Amino acid sequence: MFQKVFVSSVLFAAIVIYFNTAIIQYFQSFVKTSVSQDKQVNLFTKDELKLYNGIDKPQLYLAILGKVFDVSTGASHYGNGATYNFFIGRDASRSFVTGKFDVNDVSDQVADLTAEELRSVNHWVQFYNKDYKRVGKLIGRYYGADGKLSRYGKEVKKLIQAAELSKDNEDLEKLKYPPCNVEWDAQRGTRVWCTEKSGGISRDWVGVPRQLYLPGSQDYRCACVKIANEVSASLKQYDGCDDNSHSCFVTS
Ligand code: HEM
Repeated sequence: MFQKVFVSSVLFAAIVIYFNTAIIQYFQSFVKTSVSQDKQVNLFTKDELKLYNGIDKPQLYLAILGKVFDVSTGASHYGNGATYNFFIGRDASRSFVTGKFDVNDVSDQVADLTAEELRSVNHWVQFYNKDYKRVGKLIGRYYGADGKLSRYGKEVKKLIQAAELSKDNEDLEKLKYPPCNVEWDAQRGTRVWCTEKSGGISRDWVGVPRQLYLPGSQDYRCACVKIANEVSASLKQYDGCDDNSHSCFVTS
């Protein structure tokens, strides 16, 4: 009897020790991975990045908003003599929008760009994140020598977030007030009209053309409004156009 109790106690203790060790090892491995992942973030100086041009070093690296990507698999676009070789070994973020691929135009400044341009730069960042491997950060305008986002980097991040948000709001507005079709001819002038697909928004209603004023501005665009008698400070009827008409001539 004593033997049986002793054996099962030993067995029980062995099982507890085994599982405890496994659990501790599991958590240790987790901690190790996250520490080593942190260490994997390479920091490049401008001069170091320049070397990743397929010649001094075999890889092709480029930076955008200070994020460094290995684009070696896209050598046909980025290799020596290829169309987009200009981007290699540097951060030429601005050229992703301007399309100026001249060494005299190299700039990584984007804070003064329009919301649409900022969205375009951001889409390129997303493209590289999706199609290529991120290999580190460039010390400079966007990241400090400690690898942390600089004040400028934080500012640009906020500007991009705001630019993406304004696009979402624009999209929502277009769903509510789809743009009209517009045509012009010398005799009749400008005509605006609504269809179930005008403005590229497919819907089950046609709507009536109204002038939709942009907030705080004298500018307006033609919007198709679902309910003809909708009253809003930002909506104005076209002069000389019937309340329920799907088509109006612009007289002023
Ligand atoms: C702001 C202007 C432009 C920028 C910044 C730009 C940038 C780029 C970049 C970086 C790539 C390589 C993408 C990759 O890694 O796969 C690319 C590819 C390409 N670009 Fe442009 N591009 C511009 C304008 C144009 C224009 C105007 C055309 C056409 C007339 C054009 C045609 C192409 C084509 C066809 C490819 C793909 C080539 C292929 O997959 O074989 N790009 N562009």
